[in-house]
Amino acid sequence: MLYSEKVMDHFRNPRNVGEMIDADGIGEVGNAKCGDIMRMYIKVKNDIITDVKFMTFGCGSAIATSSMATEMIKGKPINEALQLTNKAVVEALDGLPTHKIHCSVLAEEAVKAAVKNYFDKNNIEYDKSLYCANDCCACGNHDNE
Ligand code: FES
Repeated sequence: MLYSEKVMDHFRNPRNVGEMIDADGIGEVGNAKCGDIMRMYIKVKNDIITDVKFMTFGCGSAIATSSMATEMIKGKPINEALQLTNKAVVEALDGLPTHKIHCSVLAEEAVKAAVKNYFDKNNIEYDKSLYCANDCCACGNHDNE
């Protein structure tokens, strides 16, 4: 089968979908490869991500990876959430077809963007080199000029 059972499960029953009106941080990112977008909301208390929600105009793989990503960061300290990689999310889902790996990047970027938004709102110092200088996204994969 092209997709693992876990991918199909998270695609059919995505966890933590929806909006959060009282979010402490909101991240919105776009996928340069396909144009799909993702919005991630986080609630933070004492440096712990106590709640997380996402909404996406993305494909099935984007939905499944975001769903898994939200489960992986919920209840975790912010610093741990920042270390979440798309690779770890894909592994937790028992893999994705190679041509869909780029979809999983959206989830990782959205988590980082939401945390960045939380830091910015609360004047919390962070390592700016982790993020793009030009605010186009939060991937940290471009040079900071
Ligand atoms: Fe756009 Fe998957 S094709 S996120």
